Amino acid sequence: MTQQKTWRVGVAGLGTVGAGLLTFLAEHPDFAPAGGRASVTGVSARSRSRPRPFDISGLPWFDDPVALATSAETDVFVELIGGSDGPAKAAVEAALSAGKPVVTANKALIAEHGAELAALAESKGAPLLFEAAVMGGVPAVKMVREALVGDEIKSVAGILNGTCNYILTEMEATGRAFAEVLAEAQRLGYAEADPTMDVGGFDAAHKISILAALAFGCAPNYAAAEIEGIAGVELLDIQLARDLGYRIKLVASADRSPDGVLVRVHPSLAPLAHPLAQAGGALNALFIEGRRTGRIFVQGPGAGAGPTAAAVAADLADVMAGAVRPVFQAPAASLSPFTPVDPSKSIGRAYLRLSVKDEPGVIAAVSETLAEAGVSIESFLQKLVENASGVPIVLTTHAVAESVLKAAIERIASLPAVLDRPRLLRIARI
Ligand code: HSE
Repeated sequence: MTQQKTWRVGVAGLGTVGAGLLTFLAEHPDFAPAGGRASVTGVSARSRSRPRPFDISGLPWFDDPVALATSAETDVFVELIGGSDGPAKAAVEAALSAGKPVVTANKALIAEHGAELAALAESKGAPLLFEAAVMGGVPAVKMVREALVGDEIKSVAGILNGTCNYILTEMEATGRAFAEVLAEAQRLGYAEADPTMDVGGFDAAHKISILAALAFGCAPNYAAAEIEGIAGVELLDIQLARDLGYRIKLVASADRSPDGVLVRVHPSLAPLAHPLAQAGGALNALFIEGRRTGRIFVQGPGAGAGPTAAAVAADLADVMAGAVRPVFQAPAASLSPFTPVDPSKSIGRAYLRLSVKDEPGVIAAVSETLAEAGVSIESFLQKLVENASGVPIVLTTHAVAESVLKAAIERIASLPAVLDRPRLLRIARI
């Protein structure tokens, strides 16, 4: 019988995912899907003494993740530190420069520096794998990069941030405002102490930028993403959208057209029966539209120790199997950033909420202004809200170019009977 190779794994970052990985490997010493076995032979984290649900006293400790990444005792480097720069980037670069395979869950690093890291990895013949960076336990990265390489993907779109999805779901279910639900999510440990990356839409933007690169065979272009988070989503909009037959979700999308690629993250309305509207709580969900395959829909846990550690373990299995393929579907040397499409040219349906004085002629003035601007109304709802300063009227439009819609909003905002800036939300195109 041939001896199985033991791969010595250095793990930097012992937060939720690191803890999940160490627990998994400790409980499954026989994890050898590709013949080899993985054994953690070194760890690094910010604090050695922080209480943890597992014992690291028997493992070699490295204060400096770069030293762990380049140690002669490390065959594979697993980066679970996080952050687009700083120690995570330094350690990944050091491991790749030394020709060592790298597995990471770091979406910010891959979205912002993926092209240069891919070039480094490929020049050294070292795999750089990041299944856990997008949708946690759902194998979105492998699906787009590998399983769908025989198709031409036209678009990817979905819910890529569990924290935002949880907050929006709770707001609707309990009738509480954003700030209150966020504070509770932080108390329960569902949201980070600094929630900016999640609620600001940046985490979802990192993930959709990675999916866009994999789907369209280009370098990630995070800087080109148009990003709006959920902090401005009001309970009133959630309730009015529901009255109109929609649910508000933070939707991240990447669409390819002959003009280039449009990457956006926005709170968007999905029809109540739509699979995206049905994906509640912390679930992630994704639609992929291929020219030959048609539509694919996947849904599952986008975060958490177990699912994310499973994704890291799947990448370790690829390393042990010796699978080396281009980091972003096409070789790094042939990757260029995609051409961003001007979002003002995009065409879609919209939801507009206005707060108006309750007096004769207001609705006529609003619809006349929209008609003059070339925006066609699809549905209209006026609702009496007690204790509100004005009366909310809400309408949905037929498909219209964003530049036309924005110009119409400016004109509406200047009508004397309109009390606040109109609230614009897009209606999801999927
Ligand atoms: N913070 C992310 C989320 C999980 O809420 O979905 C890690 O990407």
